[in-house]
Amino acid sequence: MNLKIFLLWTFLQYVSSALGENGVLKGEDEGFESTDTEAVHGRIKYNMRKSLDLDQEGCYLQTGKKACLEECGFNSTSKTIFIIHGWTMSGIFETWMHKLVSAVMQRENEANVVVVDWMPLAQQLYPDAVNHTLAVGVDIAKMFDWLQEEHKLPLENVHLIGYSLGAHVAGFAGTYVKGTLGRITGLDPAGPMFEGVEEQKRLSPDDADFVDVLHTYTREALGVSIGIQQPIGDIDIYPNGGDVQPGCALGEMLAAAGNFMEVMKCEHERAVHLFVDSLMNKEHMSYAYQCTGPDRFKKGICLSCRKNRCNNIGYNARKMRKRRNSKMYLKTRAKTPFGGYHYQMKMHVFNRKQFDNADPTFYVKLYGGHNDTGNIFVVHADPIGLNFTNTFLVFTEEDIGDLLKIRLSWEGDSESLSSVFKYIKNSFWNWNAKAAKPAKPVLEIRRIRVKAGESQKKFAFCAQDPSKTEISPGESITFVKCRDGWEVKPRKRLPM
Ligand SMILES: *[C@@H]1O[C@H](CO)[C@@H](O)[C@H](O)[C@H]1NC(C)=O
Ligand SMILES: *[C@@H]1O[C@H](CO)[C@@H](O)[C@H](O)[C@H]1NC(C)=O
Ligand SMILES: *[C@@H]1O[C@H](CO)[C@@H](O)[C@H](O)[C@H]1NC(C)=O
Ligand SMILES: *[C@@H]1O[C@H](CO)[C@@H](O)[C@H](O)[C@H]1NC(C)=O
Repeated sequence: MNLKIFLLWTFLQYVSSALGENGVLKGEDEGFESTDTEAVHGRIKYNMRKSLDLDQEGCYLQTGKKACLEECGFNSTSKTIFIIHGWTMSGIFETWMHKLVSAVMQRENEANVVVVDWMPLAQQLYPDAVNHTLAVGVDIAKMFDWLQEEHKLPLENVHLIGYSLGAHVAGFAGTYVKGTLGRITGLDPAGPMFEGVEEQKRLSPDDADFVDVLHTYTREALGVSIGIQQPIGDIDIYPNGGDVQPGCALGEMLAAAGNFMEVMKCEHERAVHLFVDSLMNKEHMSYAYQCTGPDRFKKGICLSCRKNRCNNIGYNARKMRKRRNSKMYLKTRAKTPFGGYHYQMKMHVFNRKQFDNADPTFYVKLYGGHNDTGNIFVVHADPIGLNFTNTFLVFTEEDIGDLLKIRLSWEGDSESLSSVFKYIKNSFWNWNAKAAKPAKPVLEIRRIRVKAGESQKKFAFCAQDPSKTEISPGESITFVKCRDGWEVKPRKRLPM
């Protein structure tokens, strides 16, 4: 076994036993190692859910047994949704499974909702569980081959939803079934042993007519990432950059091993909760924005949607024509409903008075028709460009309604560390010259152009008081919609 995987696995074993979560291996499954398809077959159960009461057993489908279909009330003209779990240490269904099943059943009450239970094969050393994914996928494919023959099940009505290792199981099912499945959703597909391997050995865009993937934990630890980093679907959505998920806290401060485990579980599982959110909160959808990378997205460059129709995340995601591995981004709230509001702000920062010590830290406060925000720190990766049009991404958790007013403030003072440092440096070299203390820097901002991601509307905001466009540390400028038209009309191309 690969050394990195081994390290990761022992590490996870260690932290899970420290947490007391190390489930006892079920006796009957001990020593089971065969990857032979036939031997695997009896260990996979297809539990068709019949009622929302999840304590009820449900009903089991079996390939080749027609009586089961009737008994379970399988309706081949409705949608068929299979839910596939991933690697497990506890060997029991965790709470996310119950939430997902119940959300799917509430949204699609006519659908055949089936939980693929491959627990005995998933509760293994991680590399062994990985080795079983092919056989489990093939078993699912056989089930669909039979359903097509026996019940004329149209494969385009089939949707497989796989979490973690289950996403790759779904991929194998899509590869081996006769025909093309309608859709596969990968919920933070597992990374270790799948990152960088060829398409046939992992979930890939060819496994279904539409493959959509949510990536929520793509941070590396010990050289591997729990969730796969590379795009592997038709669309690959990276909420919060696929990195630190809000509400999962701790971030990089992983002092205690137990905390690491909780952060990992929270971020990896976030994909499932985002999907559940998309099923339940139809009136509060989250949109994703196509972008070549997280850095450009964070700069607010990528808030435009094709024909102003933004794609949704989760269940409501749509296939885009002729696209593979299309990376999409969004920010989310920490709790359900996860969707928030994205604004792109563009402003030209004039440095007319030539202050080379100006290193502004901007905050904005947004005033909307329904509500106002607090002071929001304007995140910028690089220093704010002077004599330059800067683009920023501003995210609000609440719907403030139509944006009416923006207050831009420059927090801090001219004694900020970097300006003092510049002053010291300058005075050190010029110390014969009169090393004057730096004057308070003054910058000028006349307009802010705003694009609201969710509505795709564009507005220009001008200084409320046209004589007050200059800003220094500790000051603010208020902008209102420019008088020359509230909405920015798309620029007409003039004939050459
Ligand atoms: C099967 O599903 C279809 C479409 O979802 C529905 O119209 C039909 O009534 C269902 N049949 C039965 C027997 O429930
Ligand atoms: C997985 O299966 C392959 C062959 O299919 C084998 O070479 C490898 O050793 C197996 N890995 C584990 C950890 O059992
Ligand atoms: C910015 O432009 C002004 C002229 O508008 C010029 O005097 C100044 O040197 C420029 N500053 C920088 C840092 O480029
Ligand atoms: C306005 O937003 C604040 C939080 O920023 C919230 O506590 C308050 O309930 C909101 N008011 C309305 C009317 O939505």
